[in-house]
Amino acid sequence: MNTKEVADLYDRYVLPTYRKSPLCIVKGKGSKVWDIEGKEYLDFFPGWAVSGLGHCHPNVVHAIKHQVRKLLHVPNNYYGLKQGQLAEKIIAKSFPGRVFFCNSGAEAMESAIKFARKFGSPTGRYEMVSMERSFHGRTLATVAATGQERIQKGFEPLPEGFKHVPLNDLEALKRAVTNKTVAIALELIQGEGGINVADQAYVREVRALCDEKNLLLIFDEVQTGIGRTGKWFAYQHYGVEPDLMTLAKSLGSGVPIGALVVHRKIKEDVLTPGSHACTYGGNPLVTAAALAVFKTIEKEKLLQNVALMGDYLRSKLLELKAKYSLIKEVRGIGLMLGVELDRPGAAIVDRCRERGLLINCTQERVLRLLPAITITKRLIDQGVRILDGVFASI
Ligand SMILES: Cc1ncc(COP(=O)(O)O)c(C=O)c1O
Repeated sequence: MNTKEVADLYDRYVLPTYRKSPLCIVKGKGSKVWDIEGKEYLDFFPGWAVSGLGHCHPNVVHAIKHQVRKLLHVPNNYYGLKQGQLAEKIIAKSFPGRVFFCNSGAEAMESAIKFARKFGSPTGRYEMVSMERSFHGRTLATVAATGQERIQKGFEPLPEGFKHVPLNDLEALKRAVTNKTVAIALELIQGEGGINVADQAYVREVRALCDEKNLLLIFDEVQTGIGRTGKWFAYQHYGVEPDLMTLAKSLGSGVPIGALVVHRKIKEDVLTPGSHACTYGGNPLVTAAALAVFKTIEKEKLLQNVALMGDYLRSKLLELKAKYSLIKEVRGIGLMLGVELDRPGAAIVDRCRERGLLINCTQERVLRLLPAITITKRLIDQGVRILDGVFASI
């Protein structure tokens, strides 16, 4: 088959909920993918931030193969070895606490919202304040938490009790908090929202506000977690711990897994047996893959690689900014970088793809680069050369 034939299948049988690029990827290895016609691409946005270690990392593939031969699924009324081990690993790398496993980022956030509601229910508190331009998922409650009208439009009435304030505006946040508020949720770097970084002082003040008012502080680390910013979790750049943290995407480096991490200091009887569940959550296949992700990051010293390669890519992008006035700003942390343009970026994304580089554009004008955390200088140079050529052609 070719791309056109596959696209025809989609036209006939797949609901058109995604805007499509004319590309059918059939193979991936590290930071490279190949389309169905055999053309090679350098992927600076692998799996929409899912394939954190790059495509088909050998350790992840090995762990999956090994697990597939033994056992695919254990229902959550029994114990699964790998789920316990993965929870231990996540806690070892984050803060004292416990983990609930699910399948996606939206489910992890939905779990956080449900946790917060249950936490607040004895005192009649249920409201959550989250940020404008945030993105937390596509279930009804996470759509309500998401601070983007275009994602909510047409799905009203949404669950009530969600308010949105601009990121980094402490006064607006304080004004939004009432005696019904139970939680504040934010992404430390807004991904879909255009790579907007939370200020250090702001995050510390938000923590203080939560402590003062007994609010749960939720960090959505679905996109920023698992090494993306050069630390295991982005909050570790801030010296501020959340009460709840959500993970997904790179956690499984290609397999569907999500997690809600709850700080040990939160009382234990919030989500009691029977109050919340997920049939597939933390099953042996995905937890084996996620354990391999953690081990690989440790063994290959990938956090250091992110710090080094993040600085390198940023310096190269700043060189492009000095050369092309259409670039307004380069921002982000580690290997989560945004290039804000003075014009829509869709045509640039298309031209990059035609020249063999996959990137993303969000909020119309922000090119988003989240290369695999295994990326090398040589591949960064190759990608930047393509970007340079595309900017020059405009
Ligand atoms: C910060 C953040 N939270 C939640 C989600 C939702 O994750 P999923 O698509 O796995 O449901 C995303 C997805 O892009 C995200 O970036």
